[in-house]
Amino acid sequence: MSIALSAALAADEMRTELIKDHLCHIADNLLSSFPDADTVSNDACREIIARYSAVLEGNFIYWMTGAYLASRSNEARSIILDNLFEEVRDSHPAMLRRFTMAADASPNELDVLAVQKNLTSVRLFIGRLAPAPIVTMMAFFEGFIQRFMPYLAELAGKRGSEEREYTDVHSGCDIVHSQELYHALEAEMKLADDSREPADYLYEGVYLLKSLIADMVPAQAFTAASAE
Ligand SMILES: [Fe+2]
Repeated sequence: MSIALSAALAADEMRTELIKDHLCHIADNLLSSFPDADTVSNDACREIIARYSAVLEGNFIYWMTGAYLASRSNEARSIILDNLFEEVRDSHPAMLRRFTMAADASPNELDVLAVQKNLTSVRLFIGRLAPAPIVTMMAFFEGFIQRFMPYLAELAGKRGSEEREYTDVHSGCDIVHSQELYHALEAEMKLADDSREPADYLYEGVYLLKSLIADMVPAQAFTAASAE
């Protein structure tokens, strides 16, 4: 390998590490903004699970499909296809539905309305099919989901549910998925050869998704926590 090629690869890896650090920091902020599960009322536990379900059940595969349609590199397409294959083969939406129903937390009309505005923003962003920004959003989402699972499982436990297949599966597989999506992102960024700084174009979907995730925790969950 030539010195120039090694230097270019090292620069790509360093750029990916900086992106990862930034996304990790956003996930840290989100997770630390949620009230302790111990202090969340039973009703608020139901709402958080219901809103999470309203966002994820019908949209995760759709958004990952958007990432596939937008991607131009063979490497990214192959990684995303593997992810989709697992989602469909193992029916992750059915797994999530079992989890939600066991916690008696199926979304109602109010739950759907609570996330609708920011959900629409994310859908429209996906529809623009911008390769690297979508892959960045999905890498962030996989990383966030994996770290969110213990909290979600705790809320379900407070609802009297022992169903843990969904949270167990996503605590493990999403670490790998997130890492793979960063490889996909590297491939897309090489192809795009965009000279702009990542901060100037890469994070729009991440910020939209961050607002949507924040909507999953109703204001009353914080009220209950502060009243303890
Ligand atoms: Fe999944």
